Amino acid sequence: MCLLIPLLLFISPVCGDLLNFKPYSGSYMTTWTNAQTFCRKYHTDLITIRNEQENTFFKSGGWIGLYRANTNTWKWSRGDEIASFIKWDSSQPSQNGDCVYKNYGVWWTHGCHYNHSFMCYDEKLVLVKENKTWEEALNHCRSLGAVDTNDPNSPYRNHRYDLATLITTDDHTYARERAQQASTDEVWTGLCNLAGEWLWVGGGQMQYENIPSCPTNGFCGVLEKSGTASYGIRNCQQRRNFFCYIKP
Ligand SMILES: *[C@@H]1O[C@H](CO)[C@@H](O)[C@H](O)[C@H]1NC(C)=O
Ligand SMILES: *[C@@H]1O[C@H](CO)[C@@H](O)[C@H](O)[C@H]1NC(C)=O
Repeated sequence: MCLLIPLLLFISPVCGDLLNFKPYSGSYMTTWTNAQTFCRKYHTDLITIRNEQENTFFKSGGWIGLYRANTNTWKWSRGDEIASFIKWDSSQPSQNGDCVYKNYGVWWTHGCHYNHSFMCYDEKLVLVKENKTWEEALNHCRSLGAVDTNDPNSPYRNHRYDLATLITTDDHTYARERAQQASTDEVWTGLCNLAGEWLWVGGGQMQYENIPSCPTNGFCGVLEKSGTASYGIRNCQQRRNFFCYIKP
């Protein structure tokens, strides 16, 4: 059963919450490897760019996470994922080095020991490749980290992560691409049904304040890896992979 959920049609912000990056330039300019180390320390990693839309959104220049793993294979620093989207300048790739920087919106190879500005990003979406019921998944996300680290066991709304809220088209596109790595065809999101109303358990637009939690003997929302439906509605007791996210 697939349903389109009306709340998805509400006006979205220009870009989603999940795409975000931090450019470092000037005195930060450094080698690709140093940039990678820095990004992994203070953020998630050097940036991964998965499509044209992201390439436009990450509008700065400098080292990106792409590197040449061998002659014809280009990988992303994050997870050594093989790159499917690549945006070379028409003169590229050349043989002058195995690391990649972005300039004027297109990508260029260069020796990894050269100094460039660079872009880090913070991964807000976490794909958990374990098969859990919706409620187990919710508990898993909420156990990933506390907001108040001095009092991590404080019971109420002290979780840093939640089952993911995916509202905007951009977030949706991004999440679907990430979902390709899942071991199940569908992944749980934070969408659930409380007394006939659909809501995002982790908050976001359309969230009502002080809602305790959804009953989990009903229906919950999945994102499907393939297909174009925005959401699928499934029995919350089924087991599948799921998306947690860092709450905004
Ligand atoms: C990169 O910057 C470092 C530190 O400023 C400098 O020592 C090094 O020579 C630079 N590398 C290149 C290839 O310009
Ligand atoms: C989760 O379920 C999928 C599909 O049934 C299966 O292929 C996968 O191995 C399972 N993953 C785990 C960690 O059990």
